[in-house]
Amino acid sequence: MDKITVKGGVPLHGTIEIGGAKNAALPLMAACLLTDDDVELYNVPFLTDITTMANLLVSFGVDLSMNGTSREQCLTGRSLVLNAGNITDTTAHYDIVRKMRASILVLAPLLVRKGQTKVSLPGGCAIGARPVNLHLKVLEEMGAEIRLEEGYVHAAIPEGGLRGAEINFPIVSVGATETALMATVLSNGTSIIKNAACEPEVTDLANLLVAMGADISGIGTTELTINGVKKLRGTKYKVIGDRIEAGTYAIAAAITGGEIELVGIDKNIMGSTFDYLRKAGVIIEEKGDSVIAKSGGKINPLNISTAPYPDFATDMQAQFMALMCLADGESVIAENIFENRFMHVPELQRMGANITINGNKAIIKGIKQFNRAEVMATDLRASVSMVLAALAADGETIIRRVYHIDRGYERVEEKLAACGALIVRSRAQKNY
Ligand code: UD1
Repeated sequence: MDKITVKGGVPLHGTIEIGGAKNAALPLMAACLLTDDDVELYNVPFLTDITTMANLLVSFGVDLSMNGTSREQCLTGRSLVLNAGNITDTTAHYDIVRKMRASILVLAPLLVRKGQTKVSLPGGCAIGARPVNLHLKVLEEMGAEIRLEEGYVHAAIPEGGLRGAEINFPIVSVGATETALMATVLSNGTSIIKNAACEPEVTDLANLLVAMGADISGIGTTELTINGVKKLRGTKYKVIGDRIEAGTYAIAAAITGGEIELVGIDKNIMGSTFDYLRKAGVIIEEKGDSVIAKSGGKINPLNISTAPYPDFATDMQAQFMALMCLADGESVIAENIFENRFMHVPELQRMGANITINGNKAIIKGIKQFNRAEVMATDLRASVSMVLAALAADGETIIRRVYHIDRGYERVEEKLAACGALIVRSRAQKNY
């Protein structure tokens, strides 16, 4: 397995190009199943989760081609052309689904297009149980027959197709809202989704569906109204920038006492990330189309509580925790979305952090500096918090199991090294 070695203590200075959002690209790719025509997606990041979704779609018979494999095109974001005109298989096999929970996003569009489908249950993951009951509830309320058998969801549409429904989510779910959108756009009649997630990635999916001919109103709010249409068409569409990647590199600037210009991100989709960074004393400035994140010297402690957009994103929690470890005082971070999302804590503690866990709260007492250690990446955002801590550590830190980082951060070591970071990846030797 690859490992990353970081020699900390260098203030980072430079410019980082932010890629397309993984969490937007995944549902957009799944939505291609809703039409026979070509859907061309631009600004798709090159990440293992994207490859997993591509493999899943190809396993159904989707024709997929990638433009932009030159280095220059890679840097500006490549495009994917997907055509689901000839779906030959409607089973999402465990072999692929187990690699990525977002695979559940193919359930609704496959069902809508083919009338029946069989999708492996994703199982638990490191950050918690993450059930899919809300995805199934949506389909059942629209009249689908759902049965769970041998680890698979078997779904079938009644004669006459799915009917429009009023869907009232008991909790906010990004994925289930996306399932609801993909299930309702081609259904009979009108649907209303209440307590919908309004994360920018959900909005991106809704905008793509509208570009494909769907009739959706209330986009960007917690109540969506969908009038079912008969057919969707192909389109060309640009994936939004990755707000989590942008927030992560802003923290890289702050934690090292440096300054990084973030290019390719719309500041309006950052939710409260920049507000919390400002509260922590980080200077966030707009410069034309880009944003500059600059250390303000001292790091202020924060009181953070994760919540649905536009409040504090759970996907930024681990990175803020790394920053708070070096704050001047005591911070409290409450994790309200996932029950086991403190896997980075023992690793940060190995680097000298003073963190106490009490239920879903972490109490962080600021220290002067991280010390070097060998640490292990445990999930996507936890692993990048190790990189952030290592950038500010005294000496050389080795981070193992970095395949977690590759699920969500494209060329992380290259982007940081371009800003002066002393960071290298050692490729695993393959034994034949
Ligand atoms: C998405 C993001 C993930 C982010 C999360 C919350 C993608 C690919 N991933 O994940 O990076 O951390 O939103 O912003 O977009 N829940 C249920 N039943 C369900 C579905 C969810 O109880 O059927 C619960 C979850 O366990 C969790 C909460 O709802 O406690 C929110 O999860 P959800 O918003 O669905 O997360 P994902 O869509 O899986």
